[in-house]
Amino acid sequence: MINKIKLIKKIEVVLIKMDEKKENPSQIDKEQREKWDKMRFETQLISAGEDPYPETSHSLRTPIYATKSYTYSSLSELLKNRYFYSRTENPTLYALDKKLATLHGGEKAISVASGMAAIHLACSSILQKRVERIRPKKIKNLLPQTRPNEIPNMIIHLNQYTGSYRLFTKIYPQMGIEFKRINMCDLKEVKDAIDEQTKLIYVETPANPTVDILDIQGCADLIHEVGGKCIVDNTWASPALQQPLKLGADLVIESLTKYINGHGDCLGGAIIGPANEIRNIRYFWLETQGQVLSPFNAWLILRGVRTLSMRMARHSSNAIKITQFLLKHPKVKEVIYPGLKSHPGYELAKKQMRNFSGMIGFELESEVECNKFIELLKLIKVGVSLGDTTSLIEYTALMTGIDLASWERKSMNISNTHFRFSVGLEDPQDLIDDLDQALSQI
Ligand SMILES: Cc1ncc(COP(=O)(O)O)c(C=O)c1O
Repeated sequence: MINKIKLIKKIEVVLIKMDEKKENPSQIDKEQREKWDKMRFETQLISAGEDPYPETSHSLRTPIYATKSYTYSSLSELLKNRYFYSRTENPTLYALDKKLATLHGGEKAISVASGMAAIHLACSSILQKRVERIRPKKIKNLLPQTRPNEIPNMIIHLNQYTGSYRLFTKIYPQMGIEFKRINMCDLKEVKDAIDEQTKLIYVETPANPTVDILDIQGCADLIHEVGGKCIVDNTWASPALQQPLKLGADLVIESLTKYINGHGDCLGGAIIGPANEIRNIRYFWLETQGQVLSPFNAWLILRGVRTLSMRMARHSSNAIKITQFLLKHPKVKEVIYPGLKSHPGYELAKKQMRNFSGMIGFELESEVECNKFIELLKLIKVGVSLGDTTSLIEYTALMTGIDLASWERKSMNISNTHFRFSVGLEDPQDLIDDLDQALSQI
């Protein structure tokens, strides 16, 4: 029995040492990061995370490591290395993690299977009690706190991606986490909603699908007063346009599926933030839940992200041209774009973003016209998702909004005549011509 306890203790020590080793950057890691931090953003996009190594045969491009595990001839050799099992560590994913951490100015990043996986992992790490994977005694303290006066809550905006909305309003309450859904455009409402049990404020800006702009710095300052954390979903801006960690956010989420990959050929997600937080997500939450990004998808995303800056500039300039066209068209009832002075978040967007991105909302007069319009489009593709080379338009109530009850859509300001337009990289005149021919026939 005593020998068994000794063996377990020895294994625990080995695991702790391994985690510490993985968490603490080596001298080479530190020097590389310092080098990348000195680069300007466009150079970081190309170079950060991707130095050719002797062990990768000085390959210019990061190879795809298609492996589930790593083998060593001895325990001491294993301890010297940081690779163990591909659920938590893989060199292709590490290259992407290092690039994303550098681009956001965060200590560390972790890339995972999808944007939704990133959202759930990040929120889990903040809302639920922290556990060390190797300390079983602490497991009884796991989530959720059950005494009524200790029920944790999170603050969410009226609008966010429907998947996140479902997670926060339909699943987390079953896990003992309450939500307070308010108009976060108004910081006074945010201040009034925060109480001692508020653990998290969730900021998605620009917000899907209504393109609301939320004040990252303002929300972060308010939640920090009660010791809570601020997560920002940065998917509609990408680090090329907005860097929330520099505005006081604690963790940033990106759906890599969208602008960061930018080519519409795979899904991915990422969380960027302090090293201890990312370590907890990697070695407890991801290791336990398993939402792993495939090395092939990591490689595709590494390939896509290198052109992010150029693409975001073009998405934004195309969107401005299309907005100008829609504003003048008699069949268009309303145009919603943060680059318009008429948008309530225009000044804030100018302050916290570098450009206004490629997402437009617009409204037609009637449902009959909406149905005709969507059928008449020839070049612009009708489909969900956003942020890639190809323009994608969705009839919101019938597409991403289809799972919502009509009262829910109403509470989100999603009318039955709303379109969400992800402006691609085509020639803007071709997009305008297509919109024009469809609108003129409805
Ligand atoms: C703002 C935002 N966050 C997260 C997601 C989810 O990302 P994924 O599809 O990669 O899970 C989406 C999807 O549209 C989104 O728009």
